[in-house]
Amino acid sequence: MSVKSIGVLTSGGDSAGMNACIRAVVRYAIYNNIRVFGIYRGYKGLVNGEISELNASSVGGIINRGGTILLTARLPEFKQYEVREKAAENLEKHGIDALVVIGGDGSFRGAHQLAKDFGIKVIGVPGTIDNDIKGTDYTIGYDTAINVAMEAIDKIRDTATSHERLFLIEVMGRDAGYIANTVALCSGAEDVLIPEIEVNIEDTINRLIEGRKRGKTSSIIVVSEGAKLGMDVMQLAGYIQGKTGFETRVTILGHLQRGGSPTALDRMYASRLGAYAVELLIKGETDKMVGIISDELVSVPLEEAFEKKKDFDENIYRLVRILSI
Ligand code: ADP
Ligand code: F6P
Repeated sequence: MSVKSIGVLTSGGDSAGMNACIRAVVRYAIYNNIRVFGIYRGYKGLVNGEISELNASSVGGIINRGGTILLTARLPEFKQYEVREKAAENLEKHGIDALVVIGGDGSFRGAHQLAKDFGIKVIGVPGTIDNDIKGTDYTIGYDTAINVAMEAIDKIRDTATSHERLFLIEVMGRDAGYIANTVALCSGAEDVLIPEIEVNIEDTINRLIEGRKRGKTSSIIVVSEGAKLGMDVMQLAGYIQGKTGFETRVTILGHLQRGGSPTALDRMYASRLGAYAVELLIKGETDKMVGIISDELVSVPLEEAFEKKKDFDENIYRLVRILSI
């Protein structure tokens, strides 16, 4: 049966480029004579019936805006069958026969359950700054997040240099170190602490001391929020300062990394992925995630995307340390 009406929602943490993706879903569907409904506040709005039809102008002027015009939320109760049943009823009530879910692995679990329990056609689009989704090189918002973090660290470097200080800069990523690793390389950080690699503080301290002996007057260490430090980042700063005598400061970049106007790369991939999600629904596909591998559009079973862990490239980690000698 051909798809006549598609719902689109954003779920989990927002990320820059989600709006560009929503725009692509809406306009690609309308171009193909398919009606589109915006579902507000993720699964929460789906369950509460916060659904309204969108037209081509509903998504005008949003390609350059961070965040998501559909708003987003987390609804832990969506793990319960009865709650999802309410969502399925609302889709049926509005005559929506397929769903595009823009979010991370948690959102994909929810989408997969809707497909499994109620036969709803679902396609997931990876939208998270963490870039931790298996089956795709890229997730919407990652590029903007690393650029925002890099620019922030460039600014911190100015003051770190003037005061000859050590800075520990905590970045997001939940339990994945992709943001930290890439940002450390792009910022020329002295070291990076990530969840994927066992943290050895004494080794980091020795590297800092050696660096100063070679003439470095200030240093930057990027710390992933998920790195297993055995203490929090403030305590770590105190510990390093105590051991080295280097005046140390901490900056936690936090939600700054989730905002801002999306980069060209995020707008470009978000647009391609959104259109491709609709294309797959037109072809009758379901329970898949769309992604980008080596700049090509791909699709993988949703289950693969949320069950498996993405491979971690240790080469970048090693390079950060080699290039900061
Ligand atoms: P992300 O999609 O960014 O990983 P979350 O992990 O917070 O974000 O998940 C977003 C939402 O997806 C949750 O609030 C919940 O509504 C839904 N969800 C997460 N895990 C499941 C699950 N196992 N079954 C059904 N729904 C889920
Ligand atoms: O998954 C995106 C993310 O920004 C993580 O990097 C971070 O750990 C988490 O969401 C923060 O969530 P919240 O917005 O609920 O504080």
